[in-house]
Amino acid sequence: MSGGRTVSALLARRADLSPTVEQVRLPDPGPGEVRVRIRAAGVCHSDLSMINGTLAPSFPLALGHEAAGVVTDVGPGTDRVSGGEHVVLNWSPACRTCWHCAAGRPWFCDTAGRPSSARGATADGAALHVTLGLGALAEEVVVPQHAVIPVPAELPFDQAALLGCAVLTGVGAVRNTARVAAGESVVVIGLGGVGLSAVLAARDAGAEQILAVDVTESKHALAIAAGATDFLVSDGGLVRSIRARTDGRGVDHAFECVGRATTIETAWRSVRRGGGVIVVGMGARDDVISLSALDVFHSGRVLRSSVYGAADPDRDVPALARDVLAGDLDVTPLITHRISLAETPAALDRLARGEGARSVVSF
Ligand code: APR
Ligand code: ZN
Repeated sequence: MSGGRTVSALLARRADLSPTVEQVRLPDPGPGEVRVRIRAAGVCHSDLSMINGTLAPSFPLALGHEAAGVVTDVGPGTDRVSGGEHVVLNWSPACRTCWHCAAGRPWFCDTAGRPSSARGATADGAALHVTLGLGALAEEVVVPQHAVIPVPAELPFDQAALLGCAVLTGVGAVRNTARVAAGESVVVIGLGGVGLSAVLAARDAGAEQILAVDVTESKHALAIAAGATDFLVSDGGLVRSIRARTDGRGVDHAFECVGRATTIETAWRSVRRGGGVIVVGMGARDDVISLSALDVFHSGRVLRSSVYGAADPDRDVPALARDVLAGDLDVTPLITHRISLAETPAALDRLARGEGARSVVSF
């Protein structure tokens, strides 16, 4: 085989080994594919979930799925973008033909959201798997044209990158799934990039009470900067504290942005009768929630998830880009660390410890 390029990428060899920056070989873009020079990439908890036992992907695995960059090459028959365009990567490109796509729910597309797939890339001659079809913590990626979304060149790359996962997910949960209305009350549990995005959107929606919850005080200032009205530490008295702030009733909507059964149960108990729990975090297969059958009946609550913000990225990423450029959505509070690719293992350790929010790699 001829062609292809060698680039640096963050690689996990096994789930129990710390990932390292290695040289990988990417093919030239094939029919309908594009090469993107990555300019910024965020480190998301789902990358950690690939290597900490939460998910069971195939290895060796190139990590990363939240990124923005510039199209450098396009393969034959590519009509969606051309060289030089700035793009955000989409880890759930829709086929537009399956049953879910036809029903207007591209986030459930039959072809989308696989933890890892092989795309013709190699490491030391062996087939390389790439996270969510992207493997975006890398200098370059080669992806299907439908996995890129053009955005205005004025949008800074670090902010653009976040639109591809944390912001689309957290904002979409509030706008598309819960449809939070002005004057309502919400609790957001887990204040990483995703939870803080939910806080931003709840404020934008005019929610009157935005209770933000995390395990330690260290997230207090971040929560307030994003627009929370109250910060609460997650402890045994959390549900009582939430009820005390809502006349004993509970909030209208709870957003679980951690991905654990215990926090889903806490979210459930924090919501008023007839309110809704939105599971935004991605938990493990064997982490099981337990709800009282009588309570499920009596409470009238709804438990639902929000996959990729129940968004159509082709529609919602450009809309979010417009909001950011107009000054209506400030995503900069999400960025707590600016790092190099070599510093990404430390960023994954911070996520494991619950420190900071987004670490963004600049290339
Ligand atoms: N109660 C409250 N907050 C908690 C708890 C808990 N019991 N356990 C962990 N957290 C907090 C962490 O301290 C951290 O601040 O949840 C936050 C999670 O944030 P990140 O690790 O930065 O994760 P993020 O990238 O925002 O993703 C959140 O959404 O898409 C999914 O896979 C992703 O499940 C993950 C979730
Ligand atoms: Zn992500």
